[in-house]
Amino acid sequence: MKLYLKIWRQKNSQSKGKIVDYEIDDISPDMSFLEMMDVLNEKIIDEDGDPVAFDHDCREGICGSCSMFINGEPHGPDKLITTCQLHMRRFKDGDTIYIEPFRAKAFPIIKDLVVDRTAFDRIQQSGGFISINTSGNTLDANTIPIEKENADKAFDAATCIGCGACVASCKNSSAMLFVSAKVSQFSLLPQGKVEATDRVLNMVNQMDEEGFGNCTNTGACEVECPKGISIKNIARMNNEYLKAKF
Ligand code: SF4
Ligand code: FES
Repeated sequence: MKLYLKIWRQKNSQSKGKIVDYEIDDISPDMSFLEMMDVLNEKIIDEDGDPVAFDHDCREGICGSCSMFINGEPHGPDKLITTCQLHMRRFKDGDTIYIEPFRAKAFPIIKDLVVDRTAFDRIQQSGGFISINTSGNTLDANTIPIEKENADKAFDAATCIGCGACVASCKNSSAMLFVSAKVSQFSLLPQGKVEATDRVLNMVNQMDEEGFGNCTNTGACEVECPKGISIKNIARMNNEYLKAKF
């Protein structure tokens, strides 16, 4: 396939960015989107240019680092997958593809398509642990009875990979889907009840300090989330937050 790429290039957070045009040939429909980007970068390097910076690690949908907008959608046109799971067969010969970074005040651009998402790390660090008695009398987790429904919901929430698509797709740049998934994965389980009050207060406070917006129930986050995290988690987090406040 021959493709016309329009890619956001920006040297660093201080400089002004712009869309730059590239043409690329001989792209196999079986390549992944990131392999297509690798081919483009090899071509740019061969021509003594500066390769396009983009984040990637696992390339199998679990690390959440390959975040970018493809034709105006976080992680591209397919639902419930990340950019690294997207294949070029989804596009046609001669297509024009726009590739841009996730945009949010709390995710400053580092270079090109790479944004700084350490705000998410700080939110998790502010409340994302449970204390366990490791004095030698530790209770095996499998011996603690947990209702199947709650175990399933906690597991679903724990599948959030911290990619930031929820923030990028939200008109308010709200991080509430991400934070609510992290709150829910603990609050639904007995092990998470001990620090539940501090956790939700600290995580919500940190979320606000980082400059993320509020949720206005539009639901774009749920639609674009590659892991199908439900906005019901936001309702659960609000409930946990209110309980903690009182
Ligand atoms: S809730 Fe979904 S979109 Fe948001 S960070 Fe987690 S996996 Fe990504
Ligand atoms: S590179 Fe890890 S989720 Fe895409």
